[in-house]
Amino acid sequence: MNYQSQAVAKPYFIVAIALFVAQILFGLIMGLQYVWGDFLFPEIPFNVARMVHTNTLIVWLLFGFMGASYFLVPEESERELESPLLAIITFWVFLIAAALTVAGYLLVPYSKLAELTGNSILPTMGREFLEQPTITKLGIVLVALSYIYNIGMTVLRGRKTVVSVVLLTGIVGLAVMFLFSFYNPENLVLDKFYWWWVVHLWVEGVWELILGSILAFVLIKTTGVDREIIDKWLYIIIAMALISGIIGTGHHYFWIGTPEYWQWWGSIFSAVEPLPFFFMTIFAFNMINKRRRNHPNRVATLWAMGTAVLAFLGAGVWGFLHTLSPVNYYTHGTQITAAHGHMAFFGAYAMIVLTIISYAMPILRGRGEANSNKSQVVEMWSFWLMSVSMVFITLFLTGAGILQVWLQRFESAQPFMVVQDKLALFYWMREGAGVIFLIGLILYIASFFVGGKDEPVPVEVTEG
Ligand code: HEM
Ligand code: HEM
Ligand SMILES: [Fe+2]
Repeated sequence: MNYQSQAVAKPYFIVAIALFVAQILFGLIMGLQYVWGDFLFPEIPFNVARMVHTNTLIVWLLFGFMGASYFLVPEESERELESPLLAIITFWVFLIAAALTVAGYLLVPYSKLAELTGNSILPTMGREFLEQPTITKLGIVLVALSYIYNIGMTVLRGRKTVVSVVLLTGIVGLAVMFLFSFYNPENLVLDKFYWWWVVHLWVEGVWELILGSILAFVLIKTTGVDREIIDKWLYIIIAMALISGIIGTGHHYFWIGTPEYWQWWGSIFSAVEPLPFFFMTIFAFNMINKRRRNHPNRVATLWAMGTAVLAFLGAGVWGFLHTLSPVNYYTHGTQITAAHGHMAFFGAYAMIVLTIISYAMPILRGRGEANSNKSQVVEMWSFWLMSVSMVFITLFLTGAGILQVWLQRFESAQPFMVVQDKLALFYWMREGAGVIFLIGLILYIASFFVGGKDEPVPVEVTEG
């Protein structure tokens, strides 16, 4: 560790991984409920499991982004974090708020939770991904403010690099867009319109800046390639992300009652959105080919490459698949959407967090630049198990989605639940792939407990 204050990243990373486990367990519960409707009813109804699955996802990614920032910004800025103490206080506030919120979801009916937390004073609850009680949302704003202050002051008072400035811009954007979660108009069209300003402008806007900068940081460290080259790529990637992604929000405005021009604007701009993801892939492979050093942390490089590939597939390819309005007319809200949502979230954001954890954890744990070979091999297994099973989850859901569109909307108009029954085989296979995914995740955690140091390598005596 070059700077003492980087150590605050560690608890953030640990909690991120713990919440990741919770997320997957609830995903598996829901996957089972898809084919066995009464499973765990009434203890954990589907809607509650879904809320826990998606909310823990967002929160663990946020913990990951924060940990990543607290780790990389001191190094980029060449100074200690503005206030390590504040980062630790923020950590506890966020953790307690998250734990209370999930406990609330699980222990009381949602309407009761809304009542208990005073939702009627400022109603913000009840919308997908933004189900948190209003007081939790206020807590998130406080956490974000403290985070921006800490990272902002460190960046502004230290050496300014493209990586840290892009990261800071992404974080500020994340906080600003979240404010729209407090705007909850009565009019359902307006409600949906602004809801996407949080959801879409996060994942297809400001989060891409965070993704790009963390990826660039890890590549700089592991390849030793000149910053100037990496900086130019980063500029191109974020410019393309914002140019396409902002108006690309229109791909969610096809059927919610907005003016017709959104059919065109949404289709055309969002059709360009795969480009920044494509460039990220080219960028990562280029840097690794041009590398000037062989970093001992090979598994971190593997995660970085995996992120670039799966983000492009999940967001770029699976996003493009249903983004043109004549296609989306048929696929809207089907399992095609779920297929895309899974691979995109995993490939881009889950994997970039796993990448930085993989790079930073050995350093934070005083194991030097990398874990032992044994530990890296276990981690590589976990990489492949999780990545390949996510590819299968995506393929099974895509199969289910195509059949669903065909039976329900294209060739015939069979009722929703009749069609769902016919998709059961796909859902069973998805659940199977999900179990493999969980095994991969368990191995990932196990890799942390595999021996820290390599046996000293005997010095080879070369003859002659
Ligand atoms: C990493 C980036 C991305 C993530 C994490 C992501 C995630 C998601 C998620 C979770 C949904 C479902 C939202 C809901 O609950 O209704 C969704 C919907 C959608 N996404 Fe993405 N996405 C990403 C990038 C993209 C890109 C680049 C495109 C286009 C090229 C795209 C096109 C779409 C479309 C058209 C929908 C609406 C599907 C429908 O009508 O049901 N996404 N995305
Ligand atoms: C590994 C086992 C997993 C299983 C069995 C699973 C299952 C499910 C199920 C059943 C849903 C609800 C779909 C619906 O509303 O009908 C869902 C939603 C979702 N899951 Fe998973 N999941 C898993 C892993 C993951 C992972 C690793 C991620 C991302 C990193 C993820 C992200 C999401 C998202 C973003 C949604 C909301 C999608 C949308 O609105 O279209 N899940 N999941
Ligand atoms: Fe979108």
